[in-house]
Amino acid sequence: MQPTSWIELNHSALEKNIRYLKKRIGKDTTFVSVIKGNAYGHGIEQYVPMAEQCGVKFFAVYDAFEAFRAFNVKKDGTHLIIMGMIADDQLEWVIANDISFFVFTCERLEAAIAQARLSKKKARIHLELETGMHRTGFDEEELGAIVKILKKNSRYLSIEGVCTHYAGAESIANFHRIQQQYNLFNKLCKSLKRDGITPDYYHSAASAAALIYPQTIMDMVRFGIAQYGFWPSMETKMNNLLSEHARFIKDPLKTVLSWKTRVMSLKTVSKGNFVNYGTAFLTTKNMKLATIPVGYCHGYSRSLSNSGQVLIRGRKADVVGMVSMNMFMVNVTSIPNVRIGDEVVLIGKQGDLNISVSSFAEMTKMVNYELLSRLPYQIPRLIV
Ligand SMILES: Cc1ncc(COP(=O)(O)O)c(C=O)c1O
Repeated sequence: MQPTSWIELNHSALEKNIRYLKKRIGKDTTFVSVIKGNAYGHGIEQYVPMAEQCGVKFFAVYDAFEAFRAFNVKKDGTHLIIMGMIADDQLEWVIANDISFFVFTCERLEAAIAQARLSKKKARIHLELETGMHRTGFDEEELGAIVKILKKNSRYLSIEGVCTHYAGAESIANFHRIQQQYNLFNKLCKSLKRDGITPDYYHSAASAAALIYPQTIMDMVRFGIAQYGFWPSMETKMNNLLSEHARFIKDPLKTVLSWKTRVMSLKTVSKGNFVNYGTAFLTTKNMKLATIPVGYCHGYSRSLSNSGQVLIRGRKADVVGMVSMNMFMVNVTSIPNVRIGDEVVLIGKQGDLNISVSSFAEMTKMVNYELLSRLPYQIPRLIV
């Protein structure tokens, strides 16, 4: 059955992004693909096999349910890490399937040990340290007690990682905060090492830190937004594209995702009529309008009313009137030969033009991260 709208994932764009990012971090650092938020809207089930084909062997998810979804489509030998929520009754499945997970509370540590004892299998853990984000992670003062628990229960635990997360490395306003976090992380790692805690991987950087502060790269980088082809911020982009080391003028990151639909109907509306609900748009001349069968229930925000744009027949068409639950209207008066069934690009390229996620995000006042991860699950994802 033909979908009302669909998302296309560009394999070659992903391949290029991963090759570029791997080059940036060097061959001794493990590339971890962050696929929380339904792989930032790209779709876990479609994205994991595609990224595996591009050489990714480690994926990080937010919770046990996302791990379950990734587990069902991944290859043997691909490794999963849960960075956030696991209910105690999910730990049995997590440990049985060799899935690693962040530990940031005594409660989770104790629960992991208890389950590992029951399952007769080591829990593979990454100790998350609080360095200044104040969200999750063990405080410096807790570490003495944690080390005692870790040592006493070493036969139930494999300490794979020690990690932290930076609070906004994409913005220069956070420069000092990031430096403080980096310094504290190094200090805490040294102290853990003195106490005999020596993990396989130290990791702290996500996209922005890795691309702006190379010293944060360490043994693993948890790449989210950049692998999908987006710079974490304009500052990160400029810092990279204009730096003296950059040999490129061309953006090395390529957008993986496009979102498309088709014209559902066409209508000629004479001068002086309101279009769609209410009085948001009044025709000032005779106009040809196309109805697009996507609305806010599909993730096309109401804030794009009278301000969004789409591509039809290689030309830009303005959204006129309100975006309603299932459809909106665009002005195609000056685009010749528009027909029912014509392809409509909501996000992505058509001909030489592009509706970028960032322009779309700006219009809706959302950041890339929010816009992407809000794209509904039920939109089919196709690999092209
Ligand atoms: C703990 C952790 N690591 C890595 C990432 C990936 O971040 P980014 O998408 O900026 O690369 C996130 C996302 O917010 C995160 O919460």
